[in-house]
Amino acid sequence: MLVSSTLRAVLLAVCVSLAWSDTPANCLYEDIRGTWTFQETERSGDSSLSCDELGPVVHTKTFTLSFPNNVMDEFGNEGTWTMIYNQGFEVNINERSYFAFSYYEGDFTSSTSYCDRTFSGWSRDKTVRNWSCFSAQKNTKTTPRVSRKIATPLSTRAFKNDLKMVEEINSSQTSWQAKVYPLHEKYSVEEMFLRGGGPGSVLPNPPSPAPATPEQKTRVSFLPENFDWRDVEGVNYVSAVRDQASCGSCYTFASMAQLEARLRMVTRNQRQDVFSTQDAVSCSVLSQGCMGGFAYLIAGRYAVDQGVVAEECNPYTALDDPCDTDTSCARTYVSEYEYVGGYYGACNEELMLQALVEKGPLPVGYMVYDDFYNYGGGIYHHTGFKNDFNPLEVTSHAVLLVGYGVDNATGEKYWTCKNSWGADWGEDGFFRIRRGSNECSIESMAFDATVIP
Ligand SMILES: *[C@@H]1O[C@H](CO)[C@@H](O)[C@H](O)[C@H]1NC(C)=O
Ligand SMILES: *[C@@H]1O[C@H](CO)[C@@H](O)[C@H](O)[C@H]1NC(C)=O
Ligand SMILES: *[C@@H]1O[C@H](CO)[C@@H](O)[C@H](O)[C@H]1NC(C)=O
Repeated sequence: MLVSSTLRAVLLAVCVSLAWSDTPANCLYEDIRGTWTFQETERSGDSSLSCDELGPVVHTKTFTLSFPNNVMDEFGNEGTWTMIYNQGFEVNINERSYFAFSYYEGDFTSSTSYCDRTFSGWSRDKTVRNWSCFSAQKNTKTTPRVSRKIATPLSTRAFKNDLKMVEEINSSQTSWQAKVYPLHEKYSVEEMFLRGGGPGSVLPNPPSPAPATPEQKTRVSFLPENFDWRDVEGVNYVSAVRDQASCGSCYTFASMAQLEARLRMVTRNQRQDVFSTQDAVSCSVLSQGCMGGFAYLIAGRYAVDQGVVAEECNPYTALDDPCDTDTSCARTYVSEYEYVGGYYGACNEELMLQALVEKGPLPVGYMVYDDFYNYGGGIYHHTGFKNDFNPLEVTSHAVLLVGYGVDNATGEKYWTCKNSWGADWGEDGFFRIRRGSNECSIESMAFDATVIP
């Protein structure tokens, strides 16, 4: 679709102002745990149900969310629940699945989260039919949480490499090498921040990995010392590296990269689809478009609810364009999804190793600091050096975990991940990062999904 540059500018201005008022919440586990009343509309809708407004309530349910991921209704029926980062929560009980974003007011520079209530959310049964809208209110009040996700207004001036920082990184340690990327200077400071995850993905309280059980440790001891889905006995199951450009769409690149790899695995490379990342940016009510989003909600819930389409059905523009996916395109669905370990907060290195080898590549979240943008190769760890020209807020970036290993010379353990910053960045578009010490929270938020071939 050709859009005149004036129209595009107008659209962009509208989208940006909408997105800025559309500020995700910052809710903690303790805010959400407890007894809730769910008010639900008639279960007669289909997957096109917008739930912008709740509508007439016909079901009222009481759900008690308790540690670690148990839900019980007023009759004693049991189910499961999970937080989705600090943004909202999903409840699965009585053959139905409920998801809503936590309520907030304000914008990224100053917002108040009302974690004891939700926006209007979506509910449907396990077979993805009988849709309804609902909103949830906790039976006990939580104190409104005031937060500031970004401290400095995002600047539209050009991003600048900090040569001094690159030299400091290089001379202070030998695990990894930093590099000047002249290509980054075509982006503004704001756009670089969006590449790293964007304001919608700022995560002030990343979870800690769960302690490994003796059983988990034993299972891991049977796994190979080095493993990589790009070369399993000579066969590659990982699709090509892409570039998200100036949009905070890492979550959909990591999501589609997972589904692409999983599809290659289950079809023995007969299907080598490249899925549309723009579709999730523009068409999913579960993402914040170019402002950020979460693999759980895209490779998981969205891929179950709506399915994903081939790249040509909505080619990538890196803009918050209106939804323009070709509706005649076939959709590919996911059957099951979960955070590694079963819920947000249950992840650890052992579970990730096992899920990676036994099930396939996994989207992971981790914290992106200034030094990471200049990663050139080696095994990354955060050095603490800052880019003095344009220090960026720490945000959570999503990438696809494809392998792990141990450095032959130093014995340092690492993960191998596929980034979405083009094939010229890092190690042919991939990077390695220290493993076993939750470096930048990388061992705390892995995600698993099963694709239907
Ligand atoms: C549930 O969905 C099925 C299939 O779409 C439909 O036949 C049925 O009437 C729906 N039930 C309700 C309560 O709307
Ligand atoms: C940092 O080290 C890498 C690898 O040794 C080298 O290519 C690069 O030029 C160095 N950069 C600076 C600014 O020291
Ligand atoms: C490290 O050692 C393993 C096993 O001997 C070998 O397969 C691998 O190619 C080596 N890797 C590098 C980077 O030298």
